[in-house]
Amino acid sequence: MHKNTQQAFDYEAPLSNMPTTSCRIKQAWAKIPPELPKDALTQYQRNIKDLLIQKDAVIIAHYYVDPDIQDLALATGGCVGDSLEMAKFGAAHDAKTLLVAGVRFMGESAKILSPHKTVLMPDLQAECSLDLGCPIEEFSAFCDAHPDRTVVVYANTSAAVKARADWVVTSSVALEIVSHLHAKGEKIIWGPDRHLGEYIRQKTGADMILWQGSCIVHNEFKSIELEQLKSKHPEAITLVHPESPASVVAQGDVVGSTSKLLQAAIHRPEKTFIVATDLGILHEMKKHAPQKTFIAAPTAGNSATCKSCAFCPWMAMNGVQGVYQALKYGTGEIQLTESLMNDARHALDKMIEFSKTLPKKPAVHGLGVA
Ligand code: 13P
Ligand code: SF4
Repeated sequence: MHKNTQQAFDYEAPLSNMPTTSCRIKQAWAKIPPELPKDALTQYQRNIKDLLIQKDAVIIAHYYVDPDIQDLALATGGCVGDSLEMAKFGAAHDAKTLLVAGVRFMGESAKILSPHKTVLMPDLQAECSLDLGCPIEEFSAFCDAHPDRTVVVYANTSAAVKARADWVVTSSVALEIVSHLHAKGEKIIWGPDRHLGEYIRQKTGADMILWQGSCIVHNEFKSIELEQLKSKHPEAITLVHPESPASVVAQGDVVGSTSKLLQAAIHRPEKTFIVATDLGILHEMKKHAPQKTFIAAPTAGNSATCKSCAFCPWMAMNGVQGVYQALKYGTGEIQLTESLMNDARHALDKMIEFSKTLPKKPAVHGLGVA
């Protein structure tokens, strides 16, 4: 592990963002679509399949969304993937319409990379606490205060923040891109996820100053309770998404993007896995490794009441009803100005191009991850 060189300069995210974020979380929980009776679901699935053909559309879904949407995406030639795989699939596909089931930054990335395609989402209010906690004005001031630093932002940000950045990264290429910049002697501003930033800073030894954002889902994983769970299951290995706190990441046998965790669940020889990420991913894990046992990492101590239970409320806002509405009526369209898309594309394109230079890892679906 490398020495942490820049802790003193880390930026304290303004508390003023918090009330907005907690209010949006409540709104998201209230908007989660109700579960459909079996016959209604079957009817929606049929209608969606017809609409995909009529509208020349394809579904691009994240591992955290409703399993019915994931299955529908795969059954109709779409993709289920991590945020980099989603971006690459959308950019490479020749469909006129991309139906992105995930959170808004994923829809925005698809639109920026394919400005001539129509990009629809089941619910445009599906956000992300990292994006909400990194307003452009304050982030830009943070960057302006350190003009000598390369600005690297996580994909979980607004188009405006991407436009202010030199590089965009996702968790599947963040380590490689920061190592590359560090090797060239570049000093870095990192935003918005402080846990992922700290993980990369420790792994690479890069000189990084960190925006202090966090993911409301991964931030809830608890290290003492995880330690206790691990001791009850000594046969298990632990899979951790690096948006989790450092004390949880330190206990991970495999740390990485959603697709890296899925690959480990499928290919590792162990039979029992403790999973510290949004539990939407269990659908693909169980599908590809039905004989294995998956245990959710603890999100709260004995006395706490767990609201999230490791499900992202914004990801949960994606329902088949919303997929149908979007395809049928063109609702939930991502609209960004031409100039904002042009400004944001540069940093996104750099990530996509860089990822193509990395050894290809096997893909579970669709394109291989970088
Ligand atoms: P991945 O890029 O690993 O899919 O992560 C996206 C995300 O939002 C995780 O919370
Ligand atoms: Fe954002 Fe966390 Fe939800 Fe991922 S799980 S979309 S990082 S709030």
